[in-house]
Amino acid sequence: GNAYLPKGAQGSREHCFFLMLIKFLFQVKQATNQIVMNCADIDIITASYAPEGDEEVHATGFNYQNEDEKVTLSFPSTLQKGTGTLKIDFVGELNDKMKGFYRSKYTTPTGDTRYAAVTQFEATDARRAFPCWDEPAIKATFDISLVVPKDRVALSNMNVIDRKPYPDDENLVEVKFARTPIMSTYLVAFVVGEYDFVEARSLDGVLVRVYTPVGKAEQGKFALEVAAKTLPFYKDYFNVPYPLPKIDLIAIADFAAGAMENWGLVTYRETALLIDPKNSCSSSRQWVALVVGHELAHQWFGNLVTMEWWTHLWLNEGFASWIEYLCVDHCFPEYDIWTQFVSADYTRAQELDALDNSHPIEVSVGHPSEVDEIFDAISYSKGASVIRMLHDYIGDEDFRKGMNLYLTKFQQKNAATEDLWESLEKASGKPIAAVMNTWTKQMGFPLIYVEAEQQEDDKVLKLVQKKFCASGPYTGEDFPMWMVPISICTSDDPTCAKMQILMDKPELTLVLKDIKPDQWVKLNLGTVGFYRTQYSPDMLESLIPAIRDLSLPPVDRLGLQNDLFSLLHKQADMQEEKNRIERVLGAISQPELIQKVLTFALSVSYWKSCCFLTS
Ligand code: BES
Ligand code: ZN
Repeated sequence: GNAYLPKGAQGSREHCFFLMLIKFLFQVKQATNQIVMNCADIDIITASYAPEGDEEVHATGFNYQNEDEKVTLSFPSTLQKGTGTLKIDFVGELNDKMKGFYRSKYTTPTGDTRYAAVTQFEATDARRAFPCWDEPAIKATFDISLVVPKDRVALSNMNVIDRKPYPDDENLVEVKFARTPIMSTYLVAFVVGEYDFVEARSLDGVLVRVYTPVGKAEQGKFALEVAAKTLPFYKDYFNVPYPLPKIDLIAIADFAAGAMENWGLVTYRETALLIDPKNSCSSSRQWVALVVGHELAHQWFGNLVTMEWWTHLWLNEGFASWIEYLCVDHCFPEYDIWTQFVSADYTRAQELDALDNSHPIEVSVGHPSEVDEIFDAISYSKGASVIRMLHDYIGDEDFRKGMNLYLTKFQQKNAATEDLWESLEKASGKPIAAVMNTWTKQMGFPLIYVEAEQQEDDKVLKLVQKKFCASGPYTGEDFPMWMVPISICTSDDPTCAKMQILMDKPELTLVLKDIKPDQWVKLNLGTVGFYRTQYSPDMLESLIPAIRDLSLPPVDRLGLQNDLFSLLHKQADMQEEKNRIERVLGAISQPELIQKVLTFALSVSYWKSCCFLTS
């Protein structure tokens, strides 16, 4: 379509409109005299349908169903089966709601207030920019042209293939972009504004640009370096090339989310993309690297292969939220970024998922208005955590094989969660769907009780799983059960699994060969499994030396600390257990933390005594 952008500084209360013409080439599969499309806050001027090689028919009625965000176009005669072109002229509002096609206010270096025009379509706001079918499973190619003031930057998903003066106004130019691959409408994007950029070519030959506010190009250099390293990483990881000739990353002054993975034109809020080289801390560089890694992962996982319906959104977001760490760990090993994953995503997911009002990762979405509700920490952080566990259970080599199978089989198409499980099952020969359904279709996660008994040179371990609840022991009538990939290490080598086993029942007894009485045993290497562990008192005490001498890696100490802290209030005998936990936590942490833990423990015992008094 052609967008005409009114220029000049508009007052924020004023309305501001754009004119567009959109043409759809499609097939009428069944004769009809009505076409129903998604459409919101748009005024159609004319609409007509022309069957291939035949005269066009004008629609005579536009019936807007505002609640449903739809419009029905009625034609005076029947549109017969076959190919044809639907043309719609319309006016839309360049709104100030940060969705659809909206205006973003910025200040120039000289202090003037100006506006850029930007899109944000996911999940269901493409319909505010043009009448369309923006459900993820309806894919098409897009040819986009923008008519813009000639001194403005105009960007879209693809590279520019033509730029010429606009005949009706010498201040305007028409910019034409190359045809996109087959894609979902929610990934279409265009931006018009004033920007500077820095550019580089990635090792795999893709032109990468980072667009920044005017005068701040320097601040795009870090993201540029990340993107140029990230593209070849994903190409190699998936063994599928990035299919477009360019990718732009742009910082938008007014942006609702953190970033959006539009194919070839990724939009970011400024704090998620720009780094001031003279004045920034490593945590903001880490954040930018993660966000860039996340959105670029979607270029394959989400854009090339798209979820069938929003029910599978958790997979899209959970996957990207996991692989962003894999990518940053590859590009910046010095960040030790997986420790951040455990302290941010994993811990947060467990805290939320232990509450009675949590929900399964996979929730069925009916009306698109329900989509926003599932963009939450359970989809993102628990989603990422269970994929991390899955990757570890499968092993990197087979996992990559499975990813390649999935991405090549469904490229330019749509897929459901089960399709990924099937590909990973094929590549690994492991029961992926059975394992993963226990994590995605039910809420919560298990607490694994473990005790060990020395039998001559062996240790016999007894494991029991029960749902973990923040509010106290689980008392539900059903017995939720998870298929838990368990890894076990010993003091022989705290970084290498002595045994790996799938716990597919409520109780499990294992024999660890050749483990002397003075050797300790720990579950959940690297804090990868999405469960908590409760050790028998002697097993827990035996870990103290490895905590003190730091031979237990930081992520393992962190996991242990989280588990202990969460279990503290569950102990029946407060004094004895408090002393033990104090000793272990004391070995892990600084005095302030112990103080915090103890205050908490005391408040719990105080709270408990209150309960006794009242009951
Ligand atoms: N696809 C999402 C952006 C999105 C979220 C659009 C919700 C519409 C509604 C994007 O890939 C994303 O996940 N962005 C995150 C940042 C990311 C690094 C976790 C965000 O915006 O918070
Ligand atoms: Zn995402």
